Amino acid sequence: MKLLKSKTDQIRGRYNRIAFLYNSLEAPMEYLRFRNWRNRLTKMIRGPSTLEVGVGTGKNLPYYPLEVDVTAIDFSPKMLSYAKKSAFKLDFDVKFHLMDVQQLQFPDKSFDTVFGTFVFCSVPDPLAGLRELRRVCKPDGKLLLLEHIRPHNYFMGLLFDAMNPIVVRIMGANINRRTIDNIQKVGWKITKDVNLGNNIVHLIEATP
Ligand SMILES: C[S@@+](CC[C@H](N)C(=O)[O-])C[C@H]1O[C@@H](n2cnc3c(N)ncnc32)[C@H](O)[C@@H]1O
Repeated sequence: MKLLKSKTDQIRGRYNRIAFLYNSLEAPMEYLRFRNWRNRLTKMIRGPSTLEVGVGTGKNLPYYPLEVDVTAIDFSPKMLSYAKKSAFKLDFDVKFHLMDVQQLQFPDKSFDTVFGTFVFCSVPDPLAGLRELRRVCKPDGKLLLLEHIRPHNYFMGLLFDAMNPIVVRIMGANINRRTIDNIQKVGWKITKDVNLGNNIVHLIEATP
């Protein structure tokens, strides 16, 4: 528990540190790929009540369907401050909370859709986070994720394993997580798994 807490503090610190640069660092990929993927995933949201975890600087906010009631959390105060600014600019009423997905402060079965993009690469204990999402999702609700995962190709997998410590140190994100397996391990049933590129980025839909 103590180890997880210090790991959590460490990753939170990295996101606080890069928050001011985050959108600029991702700008090329955002323009080339991410915005289309965000658009595609957010179209799959079924409301009214939606929880976005790891909202970051709020990059999904412009793509949400109009009719949804959005609650958004992040454990980095700095990232969250940019998301709040983005919501203000968009005149979008979002309920923001500084919160850890590994220990959500919401009652069981609260949300119709639970959702995140590029989050489970950095959650220190991804199984705990995915379990919490399943707890707060309504029985007829769904999970939507956009995640990059460890490549299936044998040599690419080894390469990503070798590079992972450096990427974690700089960005706080792991590039070799087996997120599809993790989702299933905590009991979610995958209903859609779309390979968006090189078997690295996947769009995932699952039910509790
Ligand atoms: C790679 S960024 C993605 C941000 C945003 N979802 C996007 O698509 O641009 C990962 C985000 O997840 C947040 N995060 C990581 N672990 C978390 C946790 N345990 N609880 C809440 N937020 C977390 C980080 O602070 C960061 O804002």
